[in-house]
Amino acid sequence: MDARLLIVDDEEIALRNLQHVMEKEGYQVTAARTGATAVSLLESQRFDVVLTDLRMEGVDGMDVLKKSRELQPEAEVIFITGYATAESAVQALKHGAFYYIAKPFRLDEVRKVVAEALEKVRLRRENDELRREVEGYRDGEGIVTQDVEMQRLLETARQIAPTDCSVLITGESGTGKELFAKYLHKHSTRPSGPYVAINCGAFSEQLLANELFGHEKGAFTGAATLKKGLIEVSSGGTLFLDEVTEMAPSMQVKLLRVLQEKEVLRLGGTRPVKCDVRVLAATNRDVDEAVKDGRFREDLYFRLNVVNLAIPPLSQRKGDIPLLAQHFLLKYASRMKKPVTRIAGEVMALLVDYPFPGNVRELENLIERGTAMAQGDTIEVAHLPEFLQKRSNFDFRKIAGRLPTLEEQEQTYISRVLDEVQGNQTAAAQILGINRASLWRKLKARRNRASAK
Ligand SMILES: Nc1ncnc2c1ncn2[C@@H]1O[C@H](COP(=O)(O)OP(=O)(O)OP(=O)(O)O)[C@@H](O)[C@H]1O
Ligand SMILES: [Mg+2]
Repeated sequence: MDARLLIVDDEEIALRNLQHVMEKEGYQVTAARTGATAVSLLESQRFDVVLTDLRMEGVDGMDVLKKSRELQPEAEVIFITGYATAESAVQALKHGAFYYIAKPFRLDEVRKVVAEALEKVRLRRENDELRREVEGYRDGEGIVTQDVEMQRLLETARQIAPTDCSVLITGESGTGKELFAKYLHKHSTRPSGPYVAINCGAFSEQLLANELFGHEKGAFTGAATLKKGLIEVSSGGTLFLDEVTEMAPSMQVKLLRVLQEKEVLRLGGTRPVKCDVRVLAATNRDVDEAVKDGRFREDLYFRLNVVNLAIPPLSQRKGDIPLLAQHFLLKYASRMKKPVTRIAGEVMALLVDYPFPGNVRELENLIERGTAMAQGDTIEVAHLPEFLQKRSNFDFRKIAGRLPTLEEQEQTYISRVLDEVQGNQTAAAQILGINRASLWRKLKARRNRASAK
């Protein structure tokens, strides 16, 4: 990075001295003799770090700091002062200064502090760029994807979210079922209502009944007070029934009743309570099979499965792997406050080649671990678990053959849009954000390629 420094000091000799030292460090230095000059420079040029004296006639260091924060919040400000008091230091830091150096200072210290400030600026900028890139693919609840099938699911989710219909979300473990459930809640007509999730597989039959339906005071020994069930608690909001196929048959009957009558009877109760709840359910099991085996009631299945969102496993959307990896890197680097910003090419190739039985969750864990292990700014092969490192005699060509090229991906998308508008090219061009002539050229290129094959 071409680092730009602004140095402000009303003492000519000190100013030139510092300028000389910093130029020798390889920075681009601009010197200002007064606070007023500094402010006007800040108005017209970009700086990465501002080094300013605190006490100056007229516009002082504090003013420079405030102006800098206002005009260039990305830049870091460092104070150098001969009148250091604890109070002024606290003031400076409170107003967002990066550091406070007391005169007389050692040049080493200044060099070090400036380098640290620059590192912070650089990292923030790099992260911002990465974030912007990831954000382009992110929707609502942080669902990151570039996959056509996933985008179709998101569109369906967006459409049905504001209706109150039940949705059954299916997909392997770790594919993002709960993420979709939260998305549906957030985009429902009841986003400020409660969102309650319960894992139906984690409770015995009796405990689950108690959790879902609640009980009246004295319903059984130990029921000292009235307890509202989660169905009641989520009234006005969304109830997410995770691992729904794991529910005991007797519970399935009760749940079906609740869904049909929109009221719940607490254990030991005699009068049902009205509940206005939107139910979402999820499972990583094969529901059809569970129904066939008689483990899951067909009528409940129909009731829950008004709309089905079937999330594809990560191995079927490998194009999402690099994007998700970057997304998680950003998340964990900032959470761990570590300057890790890159994933080595070899690591990415290993990830794309790996079948991910644990899907997105497994990828997330790998990146979290890699971020924690990384020592510099890059996740290297050495930061992966051993079983993955062992796969490292990879072959790029193998991967290249399996992943679509950008152009193929584009063609798939064009076809999809054309399908949706029933072949109307004018409409398709409009949706794609290109003019008709470009669309026509792309279609022609495709025909040519097809006939060449
Ligand atoms: N498309 C995505 N974009 C960003 N993060 C994702 C995506 N898909 C999944 N994740 C993240 O992966 C992790 C697992 O997702 P989630 O808990 O929704 O999976 P699940 O399908 O409910 O898994 P399980 O069946 O094991 O309950 C979460 O941390 C989630 O935020
Ligand atoms: Mg889940």
